[in-house]
Amino acid sequence: MATDIISNHAAFVAQKLDGLSIRETQLPVHTVPEPKTSEPEVQPPHHVTEPKPVAETSGFSYPKSRISLVDRFIDEPRALRVAVIGGGLAGVLAGVLLPAKVPNIQLTIYEKNHDFGGTWLENVYPGVRCDIPSHVYQATFEPKTDWSDQFAPGAEIRDYWQGVATKYGVHQYARFGHRVEELSWDEEASVWNITVHDLSTGETRTDTADFVLTAIGRFNAWKLPDYAGINEYRGILRHASHWDADFDVAGKSVAVIGNGASGIQLVANLQKVVGRLDHYARNKTWIAASWAGDERTLEPQPYTEEQKKEFASNPEVYLKFRKELEDKYWRRFGAFFRGSPDNAALRERFTEIMRQRLARKPELLERIVPDFSPNCRRLTPGPGYLEALAQDNVEYITTPIARFTGTGIVTTDGVERQVDAVFCATGANVDMVPPFAIRGRGGRTLRDVWDPKGGDRQFPYSYLGQATPGFPNLFFVHGPHGTGPSGTVPHSVENQLSMYARFLRKASREGIRSMEPLARAADEFVEYADAFFAATVLSDPCSSWYNGGRPGQRIHGVWPGSAGHVTAVRREPRWEDWEYTYLGPEGNRFAWYFGSGWTAKEADAGSDMTNYLKVPGEVDLRDLHESWWELPGVKSP
Ligand SMILES: Cc1cc2nc3c(=O)[nH]c(=O)nc-3n(C[C@H](O)[C@H](O)[C@H](O)COP(=O)(O)OP(=O)(O)OC[C@H]3O[C@@H](n4cnc5c(N)ncnc54)[C@H](O)[C@@H]3O)c2cc1C
Ligand SMILES: NC(=O)c1ccc[n+]([C@@H]2O[C@H](COP(=O)([O-])OP(=O)(O)OC[C@H]3O[C@@H](n4cnc5c(N)ncnc54)[C@H](OP(=O)(O)O)[C@@H]3O)[C@@H](O)[C@H]2O)c1
Repeated sequence: MATDIISNHAAFVAQKLDGLSIRETQLPVHTVPEPKTSEPEVQPPHHVTEPKPVAETSGFSYPKSRISLVDRFIDEPRALRVAVIGGGLAGVLAGVLLPAKVPNIQLTIYEKNHDFGGTWLENVYPGVRCDIPSHVYQATFEPKTDWSDQFAPGAEIRDYWQGVATKYGVHQYARFGHRVEELSWDEEASVWNITVHDLSTGETRTDTADFVLTAIGRFNAWKLPDYAGINEYRGILRHASHWDADFDVAGKSVAVIGNGASGIQLVANLQKVVGRLDHYARNKTWIAASWAGDERTLEPQPYTEEQKKEFASNPEVYLKFRKELEDKYWRRFGAFFRGSPDNAALRERFTEIMRQRLARKPELLERIVPDFSPNCRRLTPGPGYLEALAQDNVEYITTPIARFTGTGIVTTDGVERQVDAVFCATGANVDMVPPFAIRGRGGRTLRDVWDPKGGDRQFPYSYLGQATPGFPNLFFVHGPHGTGPSGTVPHSVENQLSMYARFLRKASREGIRSMEPLARAADEFVEYADAFFAATVLSDPCSSWYNGGRPGQRIHGVWPGSAGHVTAVRREPRWEDWEYTYLGPEGNRFAWYFGSGWTAKEADAGSDMTNYLKVPGEVDLRDLHESWWELPGVKSP
């Protein structure tokens, strides 16, 4: 078949050239300029015969081009080396979607752990489970009909994502046990140098990639607080994300620091088994009844065998159930606006619920109900949390921690409370500065720009949460502004990756060496976000990972708009907000892209050039002649 293509094509070109009487024009020179990126991006010359010289014709001339034609077909995209850092659900989805959507991709997924799963592999503390219904917190294209529980335990979620990776062959791209320690942009070669530490051999090496996607999670870089004396503490000291499964908490005296979702879940689950629990909460928090009317209890809420059987055997019933459940997660947006009736209703409802759940110790209510509005921090249903606080073996401590001793914690009022173990549910690097150096143009790091203490911008400055000026060919997955305040994480990540697939297709199709967002576009996005968030309760005075734990600072945890809004934005990239450099002679944007003027498919006698002709009724006019995979000659999937 390949020979046919070449000979047909060659014959056609020769015939064309014969019929032309062009004088002194730059005829195809049939050399492929060395791309500055490494092999094998460009196919070797293979399809155009040496042109016949054109006889001089007196009195006729044609403008002389600065460039020579590049000997390639337009529909043979260059191979792109793409590195994804992280194998949580975002990395798994990248491994499923990018190979399907980006022809010729050479994908590598670096993951420091021994397997996929991210959050759900690492977090194994008692009671860890989803607070979003299981049937909502799954890939849109890979439903699991037999979730055990309305809110699945962490291990089941881990198994699900590892199963998705297996089913879609994602393991072939994975480099497990490989921790990325630095990214450095090579200006000359237009590639990222990736310093990778192989945790099994202890070796460090440098790989290269044309594009890098960070999928490192928002809560993965957990850290212990830096209280004075913490290193002298001789009991068990653990972060919630680094649980010691061998430590038996039964009957022990323990401290839990932090009242984010992790701390809340831990307190509710430990209280029943420990002897005494000191809960340190330096700020108040709302406890929601549920996310979207899906009532939570501390006890398991299993699906019956009949329900699971019905979901598995009746796809229509399951789809209806799934759609109704998921629909509610798209509707919660109104309650994010300051002064809205929806938000006022939440305040009233949550206050009442908290009052009921604290009935055993009503004096706690005013110490827990916040002044800021519901939704300023991410809501947590917290089943069993308030009930646990109301028990006699729990002390709710709002006096700030001063220091640790060898045996316990001292608060600023001088009281020392001795405990066998301290569990820090103190969250992660909410400033979003990646835990390893990312050096962009001129050697400047993302930390130089984002660091709240001394960075140029002091917040995660970005263009639409996708990329940052000065850092070409680098996209953030589920990074700043990664999800809508409404919607679901898997849907958002799938959509963001699908948009990045378009970027990558464009780069490989058009011979783009580098692309980066314009600073002006990023600045205007920040202006928009400032105006938007000012109208919402997200900018109330609370500490949350939305604002990097700094009340009053810029919100970067979520998208400035609804989940439907960010989905619409991701569907149509604004190419004009990016600047590009190109492969090919003289940096001409068309030279490499347009190649010899041919498609490979049209020179293949066996291809279906009229695949756009279909049985009447099969054509959706909204999509007609727009699908990237359906150019004439390309087999429809
Ligand atoms: C305890 C807990 C419970 C949660 N519950 C919910 C919930 O109920 N609903 C919800 O919507 N969200 C929840 N979340 C948020 C959750 O993190 C996201 O929903 C989602 O799992 C994020 O997936 P991710 O792939 O973006 O990140 P992660 O799952 O964090 O994965 C990031 C991966 O990157 C890897 N990595 C990081 N740095 C490097 C490096 N330098 N080199 C190599 N690999 C690296 C990590 O090892 C990790 O595997 C929860 C978070 C936590 C911590
Ligand atoms: N499925 C679930 O139920 C579940 C469970 C866990 C996590 N999650 C997800 O993960 C996100 C992160 O949750 P998270 O609880 O791990 O982190 P988080 O929401 O950032 O909460 C961290 C908590 O630690 C406190 N803290 C931080 N540093 C401290 C210090 N030095 N001293 C005392 N307290 C300190 C914070 O207090 P301040 O508020 O005062 O800053 C806050 O209460 C959640 O919002 C949610 O999206 C979900």
